[in-house]
Amino acid sequence: MIHMKDIDLENKRVFIRLDLNVPIKNKKIISSERIDRSIPTIKLALKKNAKIILASHLGRPKEGQYEKKFSLFPVFEYLKKKLSGIKITFSKNYLKGIKIKSNEIVVLENVRFNYGEIKNNIDLSKKYSNLCDIFVMDAFATAHRIESSTYGICDFVKKACIGPLLYSEIKILKSIFNKPLHPIVTIVGGAKVSTKFKLLNTLLKITDTMLVGGGIANTFISIHYSIGKSLYEKSFQEKAKELCETNKILLPVDSRVGKSYSIKSESKTKSISNILPNEEILDIGDKTIENYKKVIKKAKTIIWNGPMGVFEFPNFRKGTEKIAKSIANSSSFSIAGGGDTIAVIELFNLKNKISYISTGGGSFLKFIENKTLPILDKLKNFKTTT
Ligand code: 3PG
Repeated sequence: MIHMKDIDLENKRVFIRLDLNVPIKNKKIISSERIDRSIPTIKLALKKNAKIILASHLGRPKEGQYEKKFSLFPVFEYLKKKLSGIKITFSKNYLKGIKIKSNEIVVLENVRFNYGEIKNNIDLSKKYSNLCDIFVMDAFATAHRIESSTYGICDFVKKACIGPLLYSEIKILKSIFNKPLHPIVTIVGGAKVSTKFKLLNTLLKITDTMLVGGGIANTFISIHYSIGKSLYEKSFQEKAKELCETNKILLPVDSRVGKSYSIKSESKTKSISNILPNEEILDIGDKTIENYKKVIKKAKTIIWNGPMGVFEFPNFRKGTEKIAKSIANSSSFSIAGGGDTIAVIELFNLKNKISYISTGGGSFLKFIENKTLPILDKLKNFKTTT
């Protein structure tokens, strides 16, 4: 693959696909992590005197329809502040062409407002390609999607290359599979086994011990115990049993339960063999935290995706907080990915204590599962740097 750093961008119209899909509430950006991690790419394009076109999606708006809450305008304003001194404009109607000079930046409105973006529509891909001389793919967090601005555009541009963020994410993730230090501890939380089954399978092949939390743990616990009203997947119990046969999964021995899924719900710690029909598991319990901490302490490599419970509710936050802090304080190489995981890291201010935080959610998981992403093969078709 050609890397953006090795390609001549002087006076060229460069379409850079980033993932600027950040959480926004009341026009305020809640976490700027993905934008901040894209700034070095933008600065590299500026250094190379390119005519810079920045494209991204935000959320999942209805196709072909403008909706203010999905506008990238707040992201544009953030970039304007971060890149002061640079001419930077925002464009809503760009598909017929953009006027831009070298060292200027145009931020495009949400590509998912365009009809056909998600379905990788050929006409739309062509229109994007007509806007530029070179396509730079740097949206790691959207690199598992086959959409017009992430994938289809490659069929029509003369030149395409990989951006620095996508490159470094792939490099780090590959290194985990290539001679990682043992013991490897994987920590997987989140709601469902079904959505992460393939991931769990792949991770168990390299992992020494897997610690589970959230709804995923509930499905495992439900094999042996009744778990009241807790979220779990009956249809995945058999598959969960198969995974347990690896003897690598450590399960919770106690849980924090509530009577309802609510921020006001009181929390009580219960042994997993003692959960009543009107109770719901919303976090791991204290004994489990201690068991998990002991394993984390001995780890040399940690792969972390997903919270241990409903960390959004203060009464059910302790498990996630203690495990997150224990990962942060361990001397291992720790890698974390996924939207909720990043939110946890930010909530407890642990950003500088995790060795590598991936900007990807679904793409992070997909890359671990398949050890590649479709766009990477596509980019390999472009060979010359001149
Ligand atoms: C993400 O937040 O995981 C990426 O931006 C991809 O978003 P999507 O799941 O809506 O495609």
